[in-house]
Amino acid sequence: MFGFLKKPRIVVKTKTEYVYVDPTKRLTDKIALVTGASGSIGSAISYRLALEGATVILAGRSADKLNALAQQLKHDNLMADVIIMDVTDETSVSCAMRKVAEKYGRIDILINNAGFSARSAKKMLHDQDIQHIDELLSTNLRGPLLTSREVIPYMQKSDFGRIIHVSSIVGLQGKACHAEYAAAKAGLFGLMKSQAIEVGCYGITVNCVSPGLVPRKDASEEKLAKFQETNCLNRICSPEDIAHTCAFLASNEACFITGQNIVVDGGRSLGLRGD
Ligand SMILES: NC(=O)c1ccc[n+]([C@@H]2O[C@H](COP(=O)([O-])OP(=O)(O)OC[C@H]3O[C@@H](n4cnc5c(N)ncnc54)[C@H](OP(=O)(O)O)[C@@H]3O)[C@@H](O)[C@H]2O)c1
Repeated sequence: MFGFLKKPRIVVKTKTEYVYVDPTKRLTDKIALVTGASGSIGSAISYRLALEGATVILAGRSADKLNALAQQLKHDNLMADVIIMDVTDETSVSCAMRKVAEKYGRIDILINNAGFSARSAKKMLHDQDIQHIDELLSTNLRGPLLTSREVIPYMQKSDFGRIIHVSSIVGLQGKACHAEYAAAKAGLFGLMKSQAIEVGCYGITVNCVSPGLVPRKDASEEKLAKFQETNCLNRICSPEDIAHTCAFLASNEACFITGQNIVVDGGRSLGLRGD
């Protein structure tokens, strides 16, 4: 009787009990750290996690960009804080994590989003300079390795954790003039699967989200029209499409999913489309 008066809830089975989750606030009380938070996908992920009730720690190298985003979130009554972290620098990563854990008591969710592709330096591997290769591997692969290694003790304390790497379909398929990027993003799958096996017993899940093509904010109309044609759904992927999937993987609803990669590319990687 009176069932219609109840708020819609989702029932989730955790390690020890069944909990009822408000589907609009799945991350209430969670502390989420997002690397590369000021970027186009990072800011969408940060906003989405905060909307779901998390306190989001915006991590990156540029205080100005991060503070601007934090202000925007706070303006919308969402909870955000800023931490300076260069993911290529071991000391920077460990200091930042420690500061967050000291201030908030724990870190529940880590989104490894910081990264860059070879878009601006398209060269075949044999023409590519080693400095660029080192920088790319250091940011896109060594960075997530350092942060994922550093965060475990904080997650172990609460017997809960979500690590989500933002990889790419390029890591699954390969792409000409992107060999170092493909290698780094493919490396995340090995990191994710191995760590998922290692830390599952602590209630920590590790997964990847692999976007297809997400246009930059400054992309031309011509480019946008071209991007639209590259997937089956015939629309442009938005940063929010990636953020929805991260929010799901971070939530209790995804508590039995670990060591998996979710491709969010509108079917772009399915293969030839008759042309
Ligand atoms: N856009 C796409 O089509 C696409 C497709 C597949 C996968 N991805 C992946 O999605 C992620 C986000 O991409 P995006 O398109 O949103 O790129 P973006 O707008 O350029 O954002 C990248 C972010 O990473 C940060 N960053 C770079 N190096 C860093 C470092 N050493 N330490 C800390 N932060 C660092 C940047 O911050 P600062 O430079 O200000 O420090 C920036 O906030 C990347 O991992 C990318 O490979 C993107």
